[in-house]
Amino acid sequence: MVSLVALVAACTVQIDETEQKINDLIARMTLEEKIGQMFQVSLDNAPNEQILQVVREGKIGSVINVVNPEAANMLQKAAVEESRTGIPIIFGRDVIHGFKTLAPIPLGQAASFDPQLIHDCARMSAVEARSVGVRWTFAPMLDIARDARWGRIAEGFGEDPYLVAQLGAASIQGFQSDGRLSDEQAIAACAKHFAGYGAAEGGRDYNSANIPPLLWRNVYLKPFEQAVDAGVATVMTSFNDNDGIPSSGNEDLVKNTLRDEWHFNGFVVSDWTSMAEMIAHGVAKDMKDVALISIKAGVDMEMVSPAYLINLPELIKEGKVPEKAIDNAVRNILRIKCRMGLFEKPYVNTSTPPAFYTEESLKLARRAAAESAILLKNENHLLPLSETQKIAVIGPMADAPHDQLGTWCFDGDKTHTLTPVGALKGEYRHINHVYEPALAYSRDKNTSRFDKARRAAAAADVAVVFVGEEAILSGEAHSLSNLNLIGVQSELIKAVKSAGKPVVLVVMAGRPLTIERDLPYADAVLYNFHPGTMGGAAIFDLLFGRENPSGKLPVTFVREVGQIPLYYNHNNTGRPAPDKVTTLDEIPLEAGQTSLGNTSFYLDSGRDPLFPFGYGLSYSSFEYSNLILPDQMPANGTITIKATLKNTGNVAGTEVAQLYVRDMVASVARPVKELKGFQRVWLKAGETKEISFELGISDLAFFDQDMIRKTEPGDFTVWVGGDSNAQLKGVFSIPE
Ligand code: BGC
Repeated sequence: MVSLVALVAACTVQIDETEQKINDLIARMTLEEKIGQMFQVSLDNAPNEQILQVVREGKIGSVINVVNPEAANMLQKAAVEESRTGIPIIFGRDVIHGFKTLAPIPLGQAASFDPQLIHDCARMSAVEARSVGVRWTFAPMLDIARDARWGRIAEGFGEDPYLVAQLGAASIQGFQSDGRLSDEQAIAACAKHFAGYGAAEGGRDYNSANIPPLLWRNVYLKPFEQAVDAGVATVMTSFNDNDGIPSSGNEDLVKNTLRDEWHFNGFVVSDWTSMAEMIAHGVAKDMKDVALISIKAGVDMEMVSPAYLINLPELIKEGKVPEKAIDNAVRNILRIKCRMGLFEKPYVNTSTPPAFYTEESLKLARRAAAESAILLKNENHLLPLSETQKIAVIGPMADAPHDQLGTWCFDGDKTHTLTPVGALKGEYRHINHVYEPALAYSRDKNTSRFDKARRAAAAADVAVVFVGEEAILSGEAHSLSNLNLIGVQSELIKAVKSAGKPVVLVVMAGRPLTIERDLPYADAVLYNFHPGTMGGAAIFDLLFGRENPSGKLPVTFVREVGQIPLYYNHNNTGRPAPDKVTTLDEIPLEAGQTSLGNTSFYLDSGRDPLFPFGYGLSYSSFEYSNLILPDQMPANGTITIKATLKNTGNVAGTEVAQLYVRDMVASVARPVKELKGFQRVWLKAGETKEISFELGISDLAFFDQDMIRKTEPGDFTVWVGGDSNAQLKGVFSIPE
């Protein structure tokens, strides 16, 4: 029997030696023990004797969903002290935007354009989760989402590959303690869902994606490649097929690209039963087939379905799977277990009680919620409100402690949520206000209290209407085909507006909703992707001007659901939309009219989104000028692009300055513009700063028709500004 001491030693020496020791260990493991490492089981209660026995036999490598330290330690004891190999279990849990203290949902965090904030939120989540024994999270989700019908748009960082990649890497660093995976407060991250899951047809969850090769490489895989560079410990294969090939059986994706090309050396886990689901996809006839396809593709660990456990022994006996393939999978898993320091510290420390909802974590959650809110409209500078104004607080999301947390709040406790109404009972109790929910929850269709809401608005100086989506309306398996404010909320806004007082609309939702029809009835709009535990306080911090909004949209807001997909970085077409498009009302009535020209737009909803990617207002105003860049990219392959940014408003504020680039002529059609840099710049009222972006030759590289990544010489256009419609423009070229 391999002693624990030997294993501990194996993991504390240098990498090469660790690999050698892992090999020694593998050489001494039975086939059943190896296959056991490749199996993840879901448990949520204290383990019974039967489970403990299976662990002792070395047949479980990972457990998902145990968050009880005593249960975790019981299982771990069976693995470490009572099994032949003594290999510890890795405990996993979906810790997506917090464990107990919840930051805004990832889409909200993305609106901050603040990698440091995303890093810190992941750190906070890791510290809390680790204290109950969670050692591995299934985050960040790096799926590019360009369809708001898809409920899981909530869980990612939006539509742009550069933004998703940057924020994904920051999140990985946060979870994994900046590369110190063995740190006592680190947890292993998981880049998911590899790949193409965000492109589910029609936004229907789990559906097929049909992403062609160049888009696959240049957009959908990009954040994953960067996650590997950032040292992500694990990668999860997705549920969907792309062009007929389910990810958990996609050898080209997992083996060729992830392992051989990107040199990923962590381990690959399938998504929940996604391997077994290849039978339903119709690419495997039975579980044995499933095991064969997935091991060949390079999936190391199977999440909850038992295809490997049951079938690998026979497949090996039949010579269909070489034992070397099993060894490789186990080696990948053990490597991460070693790097995590799991052998040295397998147990949860139960002597110090876990610290949740600490002053520090609540402060961070509040700052994150404030940075994540996006001011979409602010007519006549209605906001910020004065703390002496009388406000009517109206609407179903004003006091919805569960719904405000958003999707993936397995462990978050709603009794700790600070809703807007909660904030008015605490720190903001000096505010003269009246509260009228009008609707019990977002889908409630009972309008009987609308008149009361209207009267409350009439008696106040300003009405603040809190609407949006309940948490259950977004997230996994929660797609929608209609993205208007659900139920009768739009009618509520109208009713309140009819009182004649200024209306502030505060939205809390899991996705960008089609709010165009509501805009005429709102003088100001503050949009929050479900803002988490401290959302209520953060919203009032913003509404009263204690904080200045700085969030920018990580996704395009469409006018109509029928415009989907609409995203800023689309390829140019041969017939782009004209600057001025004809609207339905402008179509002449005279008989015989047969054509309105041959360009690309919708007659009923035009060419443009409601709000573009990168958009967001502030109580300050910002002016960009004086773009300076060289004419040519020099031989060292880097240029510096400079601009002057001025806060022309009369309060201090933060602007997210954005850099966009277009490759004017390339061997394949390239996006009309692509985000290549961003930074948060804080400016006092009236202050001017010079901002600068570095752009390297590799930042301009893309895969061409031969699937070769390269930067092609030629002309490039550059824009710097506060959203994807940035106007400050320059050009440079890369000589042949
Ligand atoms: C989801 C994953 C998640 C897993 C484990 C699946 O249904 O797609 O994102 O990590 O469950 O809970």
